[in-house]
Amino acid sequence: MDLRIFAGRSNRVLAEQIAQYLGYPLGGVQLDDFPDGEISLKLLDDIRGRDAFIIQSTCPPVNTHLMELLICIDCMKRASAARITAVIPYFGYARQDRKDEGRVPITAKLVANLLTTAGADRVLTLDLHAAQIQGFFDIPVDNLSAEPVFSAYFASLDTGPLTLVSPDAGNVKRARVYANRLGGDLAIIDKRRVSGTETKAMAIIGDVRNKTVLMVDDIIATAGTLARAGEVLRANGAKQIIAAATHGVLCGPAVERLASAPFDRLAVTDTIPLPPAVREKLPNLTVLSVSELMGEAIRRIHRNESVSSLFMK
Ligand code: R5P
Repeated sequence: MDLRIFAGRSNRVLAEQIAQYLGYPLGGVQLDDFPDGEISLKLLDDIRGRDAFIIQSTCPPVNTHLMELLICIDCMKRASAARITAVIPYFGYARQDRKDEGRVPITAKLVANLLTTAGADRVLTLDLHAAQIQGFFDIPVDNLSAEPVFSAYFASLDTGPLTLVSPDAGNVKRARVYANRLGGDLAIIDKRRVSGTETKAMAIIGDVRNKTVLMVDDIIATAGTLARAGEVLRANGAKQIIAAATHGVLCGPAVERLASAPFDRLAVTDTIPLPPAVREKLPNLTVLSVSELMGEAIRRIHRNESVSSLFMK
């Protein structure tokens, strides 16, 4: 079965790098908007009986990118692809993953249903907000971790001993993975969310005084979490602060907050494209590519090889 890779409009650069890693050109796809805003799509390559992959991050504008992905999957199904894998480097709508108060939706489950109904046979994604979201699907979901990419970068910085900091209770497991890989103690920040854009960091559990700290999160959206955590770390005597998150959504006041946050270094991956203006405003920002990681996972899925062994470098 031949491999065919296509890309939506959300992150063309990453898709091209993945295609380059795999040594396959991106398939032709004609994407346009009708005058009323509906999306028009036509695949320009034959995919009958092929192993088809569509690469699309559901980053802002989230609804447009999600709809474009669903339309592409529908198109692939109707074009008789043998298998359709939705490659979603950044999986949006994942943070609403439980009903923790009355009369709220579970959008992560809704998106899982939509992808399956559209015709996806598998999903490949990276650092899902919560690993349990895999259980919202009844099709295989490979949830990669950007940890090998970040760890290689952190190790190259030669910082000396690190203290791994989780910016909230939800990221403790993630921080522990890094602590195991890089060595170092663990500290946890007790975060309270005041609203969608404001957080209140309360106290630190653990010692960061005179330490080089590395704080890891999955998403930077408004940067309320990381910026406030950075202030608390500095106020508690941290010597050097490195902050990192897989997905740089960077919406609302994020760039301004990050620009004035006390971070010596900041790192995100390229799951979401960042405009050049953002990079100019954040000179301490490093963008790491996950193209090889995702490309390798696609290669292994296509060849029916183990993907989990990618984590055991
Ligand atoms: C929260 O559970 C997530 O891991 C992130 O910390 C959060 O989504 C980041 O959002 P913001 O940047 O708006 O604080």
